[in-house]
Amino acid sequence: MKDFIAGLPKCELHLHIEGTLEPELKFELGRRNGIDLPYATVEEMRAAYDFDDLPSFLKVYYEGMQVLRTEPDFYDLAMAYLRKAASQNVRYAEIFFDPQAHTSRGVPFDVVIRGLRRALLDAQAQLGVRAQLIMCFLRDFQAEYAMATLLESLPYKEWIVGVGLDSDEKGNPPAKFAAVYERARQEGYLLTMHCDVDQENSIEHIRQAVEDIGVDRIDHGVNILEDPRLVELVLAKGLGLTCCPISNGYVTDSMKAEGIRKLMDLGVRVTINSDDPAYFPGYVQENVAAIQDALQLTEQELAQLQRNAFEITWLPRHLKDAYLAEIDAYLS
Ligand code: ADE
Ligand code: ZN
Repeated sequence: MKDFIAGLPKCELHLHIEGTLEPELKFELGRRNGIDLPYATVEEMRAAYDFDDLPSFLKVYYEGMQVLRTEPDFYDLAMAYLRKAASQNVRYAEIFFDPQAHTSRGVPFDVVIRGLRRALLDAQAQLGVRAQLIMCFLRDFQAEYAMATLLESLPYKEWIVGVGLDSDEKGNPPAKFAAVYERARQEGYLLTMHCDVDQENSIEHIRQAVEDIGVDRIDHGVNILEDPRLVELVLAKGLGLTCCPISNGYVTDSMKAEGIRKLMDLGVRVTINSDDPAYFPGYVQENVAAIQDALQLTEQELAQLQRNAFEITWLPRHLKDAYLAEIDAYLS
């Protein structure tokens, strides 16, 4: 099964590029930029990753990314991830980035996006991995700042396939960003947002995302299982869910494997992803292996999860079909 998973053509749809910043690169960028880190070794740094819910994780996440300063830093970050992805036979990735986590500390938007974009082009040419960028707004900042970020992104619209919403969900419902999402849609961006697992008002937040905002996808979202009407809506609209089992195991009480099984049985387009693999240890291959182990999934079921993912990508039909054909070829 391990070999089957390794060889299976895979797709990653929920991956925060800042969450791929491994301690080794953090040290290297700290040295490069003259920033002293309060740890002597990689082991010491990892030992300080002490979190058990979303807010405590986010504190470590935002602290860690302060070493990212220049265009080459963002290039190196994305290139390191894409090399790892290629080594796991990830054929296509949609990658979140958090511009406000950088602009809020003085790093210009164009530095961030130019570095990421250059890595995506090089990875496609050199590694054969395709990727697109999704720009996330930080929901614990004001909606006006999100709108300003959206406007700042417009000159780079061709480099960004859609927008997302992340960071601390508590007290920051989708409705807060209704106008931002409306404008993003008008500008041609596709729409997703985090509906993090087991949040306060999870059900109402998912309802707002689906009914009021009209998202094209939901990040996480397993809590739809608590409301049959939401399951019906998600099925009727054919919405995909980007689940992240290892991440769930860190910020909630479990990987939510049984929920993922139920979603599969209901015919929801559920997918398996890695979220922040430098912090919740496991890239896509380890996440797929974890869910296989928990649910004893068959080869056909594992292939179906990857089919779901390629099907809900924000790629043109002919590219979706090409990746789906790679899965068929692998199975035969
Ligand atoms: N930012 C990075 N990872 C996140 C997650 N899992 N949920 C919300 N915001 C995030
Ligand atoms: Zn996430």
